[in-house]
Amino acid sequence: MNHDNRSFDDPQGISTSRRTASSPVGIFDSGVGGLTVVKAMQSLLPSERIIYFGDTARVPYGSKSQVTIRKYAQDDTAILMRYMPKLIIVACNTVSALALDVVLRTGRGVAVIGVLEAGAGLAVERSANGRIGVIGTQATICSNAYALAINAIEPDMEVFSTACPLFVPLAEEGFIDHPASRIVAEEYLTPLLQQGIDTLVLGCTHYPILKKMLAEIAGPEVHIIDSAEAVASKARETLAAAGLLGSSSERSSPHLLVSDLPQKFKSLYKLFLGTDVPDVELVEV
Ligand code: DGL
Repeated sequence: MNHDNRSFDDPQGISTSRRTASSPVGIFDSGVGGLTVVKAMQSLLPSERIIYFGDTARVPYGSKSQVTIRKYAQDDTAILMRYMPKLIIVACNTVSALALDVVLRTGRGVAVIGVLEAGAGLAVERSANGRIGVIGTQATICSNAYALAINAIEPDMEVFSTACPLFVPLAEEGFIDHPASRIVAEEYLTPLLQQGIDTLVLGCTHYPILKKMLAEIAGPEVHIIDSAEAVASKARETLAAAGLLGSSSERSSPHLLVSDLPQKFKSLYKLFLGTDVPDVELVEV
């Protein structure tokens, strides 16, 4: 599977001439997880207008089949395309692993960045002993996409992976440092830590919500890779190279779209971003 990001001047894409530096950046995930990417974008690129779609009606994606995930990826991208984004960020490792090509096709010439490659690159950079742990959804781990991306950069690195399907519902419930989350996390992480990893990739955008607790369990000698930050710097690079970096001095709140339960999304937004909650619009998928 090709995980390359498409550039703005892809000859197969439609004209991007109607997109300008003031066009928005579209970001999507299955639910609240991609808000970790919104947060990183706001801190690195505060001038950008963000349209965020969380598919709260159909979360979780990570326990679904590839066929279903690819269909969802198409729907999610089509929703963002209504806003003529200059860039689409797939803030979902599951879609990045299994359906990035669907996003590229549906995005018709808009540049696309997947969160997975950004995280893999950063893990390779940080690991000193070449033993990297990856945690993600069932679908992401079964796809082996992280090991492939890491070994494409550095063939000698050893990758140890574990699916952590219970983390997404815990994060969606806002169980940030709840004893139940800690018991589950210890169960998932212990076998990985026993492999002597020095780097742990949070291969699902929901997991940085539990980052503080995961870092405590992993201990100070393990680097925690949060791909949200890596993807934000990749976004800056991509927009700068295309001459499409926003420069407005106005700071706008992200435009939030969800497919179900906007009120619940609002309360989680406040919990994760710690800022005032903009309106949340309900859209049909
Ligand atoms: N946050 C998503 C990811 O990064 C998906 C989690 C899920 O819906 O299962 O994989």
